[in-house]
Amino acid sequence: MTSAFWHPFADMSKVSKKPFMIEKSEDVYLWDKDGKRYLDATASLWYMNVGHGRKEIVDAASKQAGKLPAYSTFGDFSNEPAERLAEMLSERAPEIGSKIFFVGGGGEAVETATKLARRYFSVLGKPKKLYIIHRHHSYHGTNGLGTSLAGIPANTAGFGPMVRETEEVPTHDAEALEATIVRLGAENVAAFIVEPVIGAGGVYPPQAGYIEAVSQICARHDVLLIVDAVICGFGRLGGWFSPERFGVKPDMITFAKGVTSGYLPLGGVVVSPKVASPFWEKSGNVFRHGPTYAGHPTCCAAGIANISILEREGLIERGAQLEGELLQALQVAESSEVVSEVRGGVGLLGAVELSPAFLEAQPLGVGLLQDEMRSRGVITRTLSTSIAFSPPLTIEKHHLDEVSEALSDSLRSLEKLA
Ligand SMILES: Cc1ncc(COP(=O)(O)O)c(C=O)c1O
Repeated sequence: MTSAFWHPFADMSKVSKKPFMIEKSEDVYLWDKDGKRYLDATASLWYMNVGHGRKEIVDAASKQAGKLPAYSTFGDFSNEPAERLAEMLSERAPEIGSKIFFVGGGGEAVETATKLARRYFSVLGKPKKLYIIHRHHSYHGTNGLGTSLAGIPANTAGFGPMVRETEEVPTHDAEALEATIVRLGAENVAAFIVEPVIGAGGVYPPQAGYIEAVSQICARHDVLLIVDAVICGFGRLGGWFSPERFGVKPDMITFAKGVTSGYLPLGGVVVSPKVASPFWEKSGNVFRHGPTYAGHPTCCAAGIANISILEREGLIERGAQLEGELLQALQVAESSEVVSEVRGGVGLLGAVELSPAFLEAQPLGVGLLQDEMRSRGVITRTLSTSIAFSPPLTIEKHHLDEVSEALSDSLRSLEKLA
């Protein structure tokens, strides 16, 4: 039978005939419908930070759903979980007095931050500041502006014209950012958006000093710095939001995924006092923006329970504590002739890049590697030319040994095809 479910980022001509059915999960493991167990080395789509099977989150959401499952927060409507979660996030933000704008996920968070950047300058009487600059390899979701900010060419192909006032800069070159701002004219640039570690674009950690340098450049040119922490937040880089790691205070931070560990969908933007003040302190400056489910009480209740777990169990620090061990586990791949690079070492994130020669001989090589890993009971994620690793923060050394062994054996199988 053919499935009616259209999967994101999937070749449905193949997937519809044989979807990979996951049935249950617990901590770092998943089971398929035939009862086979897998190690979830990607924490689903980079988000299951506290691990699977947390009854505390399920109970908190269920309790809230029994009382007030959902209600609008447009205008003056509010609810206790949204107020409480905003307070908790604001207290943990890099800047005291930050405000929290809730949305449904990461893509909506990016739309919110980029629209707010433009609106902020418009309110200040600088409506020409429209350009948003992004990096090559970046991924900022699949909504309108987020798609226009894609540094992965395949993600914009075939969709026609994108938002015109965007510009791409090389991945690791802070000077190129400054040159681009100067070329466009700072009076035309609203913001620069940056993932501290690029995720979906290939897991590229920042070069030493890069995040600090771009922060200074933005400040020098009156360009807002938006840190897209959708993957990097909630412990993945060892801090609440990730900019702390670099000692920078962005104008806005987008978050999602780890805020609920994905138990329910939620995202948002941490807005610094500087950006919030024209809207919060002067009557009449309304930000006419926000999705239906902004401040959804049941999702916020899940977020509160998730944050309590992250804090109580010391999981926030683990992203940094485990980064060396994950990298070491992946470094078994370095000796393989089909691998050109192993990336990682900044947060609990890593990637194994297949060599151009191997991918030329085997254009579907990334999928083959994923299949080999899966057949050995380890779930990984395919990126353009690499496979990614981003396990739950609860992962232990012996699990990483399992990853390492499966990787080594899988690559040996691939080498036979080289
Ligand atoms: C850095 C980054 N920004 C934005 C998004 C989009 O988030 P969502 O898929 O929740 O819309 C993602 C998703 O992976 C992401 O990695």
